[in-house]
Amino acid sequence: MRLLLLWVSLVACAADDFDNIRLPDTAADLARGKKLYLGSCTYCHGPTGDGGKGADLSRRDLVRAKTDGDLVRVIEIGVPGTEMPSAWHMTRREVTQVAAFVRSLARVENSGTVPGDAARGKALYARHGCSNCHTLKQGDLYTGGYMGPDLSSIGLKRNAAHLRRSLIEPAETLPDDFVPIKVVTKAGKSIEGRRTHEDTFALVVRDFAGNNHSLLKSDLQSAVLDAKRSPMPGYKDKLSAAELDDLVAYLVSLKEPL
Ligand code: HEC
Ligand code: HEC
Repeated sequence: MRLLLLWVSLVACAADDFDNIRLPDTAADLARGKKLYLGSCTYCHGPTGDGGKGADLSRRDLVRAKTDGDLVRVIEIGVPGTEMPSAWHMTRREVTQVAAFVRSLARVENSGTVPGDAARGKALYARHGCSNCHTLKQGDLYTGGYMGPDLSSIGLKRNAAHLRRSLIEPAETLPDDFVPIKVVTKAGKSIEGRRTHEDTFALVVRDFAGNNHSLLKSDLQSAVLDAKRSPMPGYKDKLSAAELDDLVAYLVSLKEPL
């Protein structure tokens, strides 16, 4: 049902003209937008919009939402291939109310500048072998490994505080599609990796060599999700406080458009 709704709303949007959208600006609209925002968006973007698991929305220039039309589109459709979901459960009017509230967040100066030096952070990234597990895209060139997420645009996705935690306590900040899992099939085959997809009947596990395994749940003997474990080592004891600042500054600077 949820999928069907999503599909219907995608089709409806495709035919839409987002360019002529005007955001409502009455106090009642903003109050409604705030309520919807607190219900649906705070979990990832924070109550004041300064981000976390999701992008920092308190900036004046939103990369994916330069115009109000783009903002409505991003909220309504989501950003495919990322954790940013579609607000398929909201009406167009509600989406414009949330969008108006998001624009009002930009007036709050709470983004905070990041201490640290991105150039030094880049050298640390190379020295600590981050690229063994992480891909970076520079122009058309992809370099690095595949065990961890692609970091090319991580500076657009997460705020500095969240990135810092990712380095110190990787298991506390697992992205939704990087939850480690171990499954054993009824035939006795065991597969370890991360869960990239799950629905009522099926599961997709990507093993650490990068192979995808599509599995029917009815064929499984056991599946253990380990949301408190990460294959990434913590860097708390490997980096000084200043080095951590530099590395975070470098990660924040990674804003390759997808
Ligand atoms: C499950 C987490 C999650 C939820 C819930 C969520 N978002 Fe997001 N959002 C993200 C992530 C992650 C990104 C960054 C996507 C990317 O660019 O890779 C994002 C990006 C955005 C952007 C684009 C930011 C930019 O710099 O251009 C906007 C605007 C946005 N979200 C608004 C919202 C609103 C409004 C809601 C609630 C209706 C919402 N989001 C709910 C995770 C989330
Ligand atoms: C052994 C492989 C490995 C190494 C080495 C490694 N990582 Fe990771 N990293 C991962 C995996 C797997 C994840 C996803 C699970 C998690 O978040 O803990 C991850 C997650 C992350 C995230 C969070 C991404 C997101 O979408 O929120 C960041 C940021 C990150 N790593 C940066 C680094 C940096 C910087 C280094 C080097 C200092 C590094 N990693 C070294 C495997 C690795």
